[in-house]
Amino acid sequence: MTAFAPGPLDRDAAFYVAGHRGLVGSAIWRKLESEGFTNLHGQTSGELDLKDRSAVFEYLARIKPRYVVLAAAKVGGIMANNTYPVDFLTENLQIQVNVLDAAREQNVERVLFLGSSCIYPKFASQPIREDSLLTGHLEPTNDAYAIAKIAGIMHVQAVRRQYGLPWISAMPTNLYGPGDNFSPEGSHVLPALIRRYDEAARDEVGSVTNWGTGSPRREFLHVDDMAEACLHLLENYDGPDQVNVGTGSDVTIRELAETVAEAVGYEGKMEWDTSKPDGTPQKLLDVSKLAKAGWTARISLEEGVRNTVDWYRAHQTSLRV
Ligand SMILES: NC(=O)c1ccc[n+]([C@@H]2O[C@H](COP(=O)([O-])OP(=O)(O)OC[C@H]3O[C@@H](n4cnc5c(N)ncnc54)[C@H](OP(=O)(O)O)[C@@H]3O)[C@@H](O)[C@H]2O)c1
Repeated sequence: MTAFAPGPLDRDAAFYVAGHRGLVGSAIWRKLESEGFTNLHGQTSGELDLKDRSAVFEYLARIKPRYVVLAAAKVGGIMANNTYPVDFLTENLQIQVNVLDAAREQNVERVLFLGSSCIYPKFASQPIREDSLLTGHLEPTNDAYAIAKIAGIMHVQAVRRQYGLPWISAMPTNLYGPGDNFSPEGSHVLPALIRRYDEAARDEVGSVTNWGTGSPRREFLHVDDMAEACLHLLENYDGPDQVNVGTGSDVTIRELAETVAEAVGYEGKMEWDTSKPDGTPQKLLDVSKLAKAGWTARISLEEGVRNTVDWYRAHQTSLRV
């Protein structure tokens, strides 16, 4: 049994960031470095495949972390999730079970497990509260991924019950920022728009056509805000239920496209192909629990998109494919 006491984490204790090269993990790594953490540990999937249970146990036994953030996962857009559900289910379950079991064996004091807002029912009332988990059917296109993430939340809760360790889970909304995936196949909506409008601005294209009506509402959180929220939760929050992490406000896809177009300097026309599906009309997390824990987002969408465009342009030769 390890009692949780709010306050600063020990800056010199061993801290393992699983997935430290990904969008979220790299932002957490930057945040921890800037906060003076001196004993950070991370491995690429080439160095340590988290699906390899004995290798994961050996690694954690060697570095003996006091803190762990689990930001490693097989992540993808709707198309990839819908086409390869077995991979999304089994790889994520293996990664989670291995890392969480190995962390348990090492009696890791604080673990933060990261999931996703797709764990909530497709028709959850908006804004989505944490207690709507498991109250309805999931969105079928990513249900395999969502079930793996729900199992991760349960794993954390079970460790709390059985071993008394103060582990926690956080569920971020749509994230974006430096390090994002801009590939045409694997990217989410915001990086996909940046890529498309940046190319259109560069090539002075007269018109860009977007999918759908542009009316669905979505929430976007800059990954540097996400990283700050993660550290805040580790230092200040304890409880069995997952905590939503978002901005608390949403924009239409049309507003998002306009923000991106302005950031890249696109001056052509914006068209909407209304024969294409819109998806769910709104997806917004209720962030009152996070606010009660003392944290709110700071980076505006305009500022965050500009910062992401700058990063995208500066990293053309090293983008993920
Ligand atoms: N992006 C979003 O909008 C968003 C929204 C909500 C929640 N989240 C959650 O945040 C977490 C991280 O997402 P992300 O966007 O940062 O994903 P990401 O950019 O694709 O990064 C995933 C990381 O996981 C690592 N990884 C994957 N499979 C691995 C394996 N078998 N062994 C070792 N490492 C492995 C990758 O390592 P390598 O780079 O070394 O291959 C990569 O660093 C996920 O749990 C996701 O559900 C993300």
